[in-house]
Amino acid sequence: MSPVRNRVAVLHGVNLNMLGRRKASHYGTVTLAELEQRVVQFGRELELEVSCFQTNSEAEFVTRLHELPARYDGVLLNPGAWTHYSWAIHDALEIADLPAVEVHLSQIDEREPWRSVSVVRDLVLACVSGQGVDGYREALVRLSKELDG
Ligand code: DQA
Repeated sequence: MSPVRNRVAVLHGVNLNMLGRRKASHYGTVTLAELEQRVVQFGRELELEVSCFQTNSEAEFVTRLHELPARYDGVLLNPGAWTHYSWAIHDALEIADLPAVEVHLSQIDEREPWRSVSVVRDLVLACVSGQGVDGYREALVRLSKELDG
């Protein structure tokens, strides 16, 4: 029997700890703690073991990515603004070499042009954007299908 692959890391990047104080028209009113609670609950429904992490330090985010393969089977990431320019995070995600899904609360393709660039897009199975908190469920479903396959 093949081992269960259900350990998912959910990584939030820069400024996402400020949810609740950010523009509600883009991000809603949910706080990071509430978002993480919902994501853990979505994970339970899908029989995934979800662990959440947030940092405003790019170095910490990169280091966390380096450490993932020892403890996780997949990763769901919302790098915040780093999405649009951090080649260091691109390279760290490539090194992690885990099934990954990118998620954004807001619709990044319908905002400023620079937000429609994602430097991690070539490394992820899918990008879910503009669906708020529910987008995380969709992202976990996508990841779970990959892990089951
Ligand atoms: C974001 C979109 C980014 O452009 C922005 O810099 C964020 C949040 C989102 O979840 O919609 O911080 O990743």
